[in-house]
Amino acid sequence: MPSTNSNSNLNEENLDPASSAEAFTEEKFTFKCNLNGKAISTVIPPSRRLLNVIREDLELTGTKRSCEIGRCGACMVLVDGHPVNSCLAMAYQCSGAEITTIEGLSEAGLHPVQRAFLEEGGFQCGYCTPGMVISVVALLDENPHPTQAEVEEALSGNICRCTGYGGILRAVNKAIGGGVDGRF
Ligand code: FES
Ligand code: FES
Repeated sequence: MPSTNSNSNLNEENLDPASSAEAFTEEKFTFKCNLNGKAISTVIPPSRRLLNVIREDLELTGTKRSCEIGRCGACMVLVDGHPVNSCLAMAYQCSGAEITTIEGLSEAGLHPVQRAFLEEGGFQCGYCTPGMVISVVALLDENPHPTQAEVEEALSGNICRCTGYGGILRAVNKAIGGGVDGRF
């Protein structure tokens, strides 16, 4: 049935999802940040997520892709020192930021948190490990002597499907220096 709305053609054109998506992806901007201590500048669509820039454009595949809805923490990176799920962050939101991926932690050899994971068996398949390590580094940078509750809260956004968390918590305890009530 024809529409009686005289503006219907105009509205339909504006709301056409295909043409809107095309216009959005054709648009480009220069994304600049400091990534692992290096200045980065790359031209991308504003719809590009930080995870895709890191993994696909910059080929830093230590940052993992899993749920893509902010539930698992596999994609965690540091943005200005704070842990961020890069699958949820649009790259433009991180313009000008200091971004650290798992690769950036080990440029001068293994980071102490990575070494603790290695020594305490804090991984099996290892898929969750980069995100776990990033979360622990963020926690210890802010709070070098967290309580057990604070450790559990800091890791509440990181899911491991293999280890049962025992090795991970031992690794965190080792990284802290045995200071988490000695309970792990
Ligand atoms: S892939 Fe980002 S939270 Fe799971
Ligand atoms: S070690 Fe396999 S998901 Fe954590």
